[in-house]
Amino acid sequence: MSEHALRKHLEFYRDLGFEELFVGSSEAEQERGAEDPKADAAPGAEVPAQPAPAPTAPLDESPAAAPPASEASPEQKLSPLQVIQEDIGDCTRCRLHKCRKTIVFGSGNPNAKLVFIGEGPGADEDAQGLPFVGRAGQLLTRMIDGTCERIGLPVRRPDVYICNVVKCRPPDNRAPELDEMEICGQFLFRQVKAIQPKAICVLGGTAAKALLRPGVGITKLRGNWTEWGGIRVMPTYHPSYLLRGYNPEGKRQAFEDLKEVFTYVYK
Ligand code: URA
Ligand code: SF4
Repeated sequence: MSEHALRKHLEFYRDLGFEELFVGSSEAEQERGAEDPKADAAPGAEVPAQPAPAPTAPLDESPAAAPPASEASPEQKLSPLQVIQEDIGDCTRCRLHKCRKTIVFGSGNPNAKLVFIGEGPGADEDAQGLPFVGRAGQLLTRMIDGTCERIGLPVRRPDVYICNVVKCRPPDNRAPELDEMEICGQFLFRQVKAIQPKAICVLGGTAAKALLRPGVGITKLRGNWTEWGGIRVMPTYHPSYLLRGYNPEGKRQAFEDLKEVFTYVYK
């Protein structure tokens, strides 16, 4: 990328309100490919799960980048998550804005020790403006509450924080595309940094791709701790996958994963 193009790119993100840029999976993967001896390995070759794309680059450290004191004061009254929500505003930064009814920012405890990350809103979430409220969401609630009950923890769904990689519903419930994840993912990364949880639980392959090393399937990743930006991350199955057909083994594994997460975070 030329210096001019790079500057434009960074300005674009600075205008979105980002103080620093989290290198998303596609670019990070290209960069890693240059130095990763396994990058040319045959498809299907085992690639070890590695820490996520957490490197950050300052966007602009010149004094001009800082807002004038008069503009900064109203923001001081907002919580860090509210500032991010304000920055999102009536967002049209990616094509997903065209079909959405509501931006689904996230819900739960803003000081949660544990953050769950899903893929993107479905029809119910789009209608209500809240994450994981449809069928998959009800299963997630039962998984969280049920796991904690079984291991004797007083923790319940409202105690954790839940959000998605993209905040607008993809049409026909398709998976979010890479550029959509990269743009909206910046808000996700800011959310996680604002909350500073002790651990993250990523639900399903799409969220794992956004946060962790792409190219490794969720079946391989699940159940193994990894790391993003200094925070421990546990990937597990998406509840929608567990709802598909008779899948007692998947449910058992997801329960094991959640047990591991909740024990680490709260015990
Ligand atoms: N699936 C997701 O990934 N997120 C939601 O909020 C609901 C369903
Ligand atoms: Fe904006 Fe995210 Fe919605 Fe895209 S998905 S329009 S980036 S809020």
